[in-house]
Amino acid sequence: MSGLNPLRSVLYVPGDNERAMTKSAGLTVDAIIYDLEDAVAPANKQAARARVCRAVTTRDQDQHVIAIRINDLASNEGAEDLQAVLGAAPDVLVLPKVQTAQDIEHLHARIKSSGDQGMDRALEIWAMIETPSAILNIKEIAERSRIQGYRLGALVLGTNDLAKLTGVRLDMMASWLMDCVLVAKAYGLPIIDGVFNNYSDQEGFAAACEQGRDMGFDGKTLIHPSQIASANQVFAPSKVQLQEACEVVALFEREGHENMNVLELDGRMVERLHYLMAKKTLKIAQMIKEQTA
Ligand code: COA
Ligand code: MG
Repeated sequence: MSGLNPLRSVLYVPGDNERAMTKSAGLTVDAIIYDLEDAVAPANKQAARARVCRAVTTRDQDQHVIAIRINDLASNEGAEDLQAVLGAAPDVLVLPKVQTAQDIEHLHARIKSSGDQGMDRALEIWAMIETPSAILNIKEIAERSRIQGYRLGALVLGTNDLAKLTGVRLDMMASWLMDCVLVAKAYGLPIIDGVFNNYSDQEGFAAACEQGRDMGFDGKTLIHPSQIASANQVFAPSKVQLQEACEVVALFEREGHENMNVLELDGRMVERLHYLMAKKTLKIAQMIKEQTA
């Protein structure tokens, strides 16, 4: 599901904020994560669970990818969340505080033992990478995406938690983030960058999106509607990229070029791998166009 969808903009919406939840349905965002975890105070957990389940059950099916972030499965809240949200049939379950690959296996087993709800459709698990252990175990975690039943569909960075747990400043984390990006690419998994807290700083946010894009992230997690337009723009293929992709595709699809692996375009070498990348770029652009049509 998400493998086929652009995930430029992924908005967190606190499950106990009715106004934000109502607003979220009309936003031009690629994915919404209704949050039952850190955005919701303990006293509001139960009401948030019920509200989120209601919103997800009655949603407009095709508008966005709909995810629910549950609480840590080791907690009572997490167990109750899981039981409730499976019935609401979101597209994605976001698992917080992942430490090891066994956490993915454990969630998979819990879904399976909950009466097979969710097993007959493409429910995905997105793993939050926000603990030092998750960074250490990133390869084993991502490997679970290769095992059909485990449903791992994306990695989502939780940079605020990483900063809190390690005392390391965000601008010093680049090597950890790049390790995660490399692993995600190796396993063909979408990877979404962490949030930018200062939502009134539009310029700073646009720069953070550009940096995330240049690092190889597929999109950014967001906390406020004012961040959506920038993320959608920065993580979409640019006009120049689209033009180049069209040229590369046309070149490789020209009669007589079926068996050519290397060709020349405006004095540059282009390989068949560039053709495949160009086709992917055009496909993403087409999906974005259909989404906004
Ligand atoms: N999703 C959807 N709508 C949101 C939103 C969000 N994350 N954040 C704000 N809005 C809505 C508000 O409800 C308001 O709606 P209105 O036009 O109907 O009045 C509008 O956008 C403007 O909001 P604003 O007044 O500027 O912000 P706020 O004070 O209501 O909220 C925050 C500010 C930071 C509390 C809020 O954006 C938020 O809770 N963000 C998500 C935090 C989160 O989930 N953190 C956990 C993951 S890191
Ligand atoms: Mg977190």
